[in-house]
Amino acid sequence: MSPIAIHTQTSIDEPVRTIKLKGAAVDDQEEVARNTLPGPLKYSGSLDGYTHFEVTPSIGREFGKDLQLSQILKAPNSDDLIRDLAVLISRRGVCFFRAQDVSQDEMMELQKRISTSAGQPKESNMCIHPVSENVGEMGAKTQLISAEAQRKGGGIMRLHDDVSRWATRAYHSDVSFEKVPADYSMLKINVLPPTGGDTQWVNCYDILDKMSPSMLEYFKTLKAEHNANFFHQEAANHGRTISKTMVRGNPLNVGDDLSARHPLIRTNPVTGWNALYYSYGFGGRIQGVTYDEHLFLREYLMSLAQLCMNNFDCSVRFRWEAGSVAIWDNRSTLHSATFDYKEERNGDRASSIGELPYLSREGISKSEGLRAEGKQW
Ligand SMILES: [Fe+2]
Repeated sequence: MSPIAIHTQTSIDEPVRTIKLKGAAVDDQEEVARNTLPGPLKYSGSLDGYTHFEVTPSIGREFGKDLQLSQILKAPNSDDLIRDLAVLISRRGVCFFRAQDVSQDEMMELQKRISTSAGQPKESNMCIHPVSENVGEMGAKTQLISAEAQRKGGGIMRLHDDVSRWATRAYHSDVSFEKVPADYSMLKINVLPPTGGDTQWVNCYDILDKMSPSMLEYFKTLKAEHNANFFHQEAANHGRTISKTMVRGNPLNVGDDLSARHPLIRTNPVTGWNALYYSYGFGGRIQGVTYDEHLFLREYLMSLAQLCMNNFDCSVRFRWEAGSVAIWDNRSTLHSATFDYKEERNGDRASSIGELPYLSREGISKSEGLRAEGKQW
């Protein structure tokens, strides 16, 4: 077990009874969920010949249609190209690709190869969502994204609730409620409304630079619960139940308790940079503090309004076209859909399960990393 596994409470409303923090800086991970990279990866420049631009200084790179993901898979140097793709996605948070002809099977192959090149533990595989992928353990294809299914089930916005109408409530990192959550996700939009349905991403590396060093050091000592047990109601809305036995992409991801406790500050193994790992969508009880302190800290952090949404320099908004693909790193970004349309919108998504989240003693901030490299972004 990880030294900072502080399983000390049974419900998000219950105060922590005992505190066993042993220091948050840990390098060791459970064997079945350990990233295999010996250290951060370096970008070799193999993708520089394709048309591209940085969407903002903080986050996002967009490639032109001269880069076809289907061709990257078949290129003689595809291993180099895919490893560089992983590095770029992890550094820029999200990469966008226009007018792609990549098929569902090719998306699955590419997603697996990106994750493998980024040190995916050998026990991890493609992500199986506990609600929206009612498939056998070996049968997962890409997940169909459907506006109709979202409306019927409620989705992460819990549209049937009368709790909040803040769109920021839906900011999340994919399946962060799993013990071993997603590393990368890929979405291709096939059908979209004439306007609306944009997706937004927030760069969680850069949020750390919004904190004072002393506050950041404190947050490095904490873990937080990520909880999606509201998905039981979502499954019921679809007439289903959540399987107690299906393994969802790693042997540790099994059972119908959709909650996990992760370090609040997490190191990305590909870049070696630290990022805030907490979201309004799934973020629950902050561990190791009293309930009142949890409320204050959550308000500070996840009023995401204060640290993400109020800092426009940390976010990017993507306007989809039919055939657009986005690939993002869930370890260091949050994303949220925009539900401002009524027409049909659907696409294919492929996510992969990565490593057990950890905070490395060697982890540095993105700004420190870029300074050391003499780079601007
Ligand atoms: Fe998502």
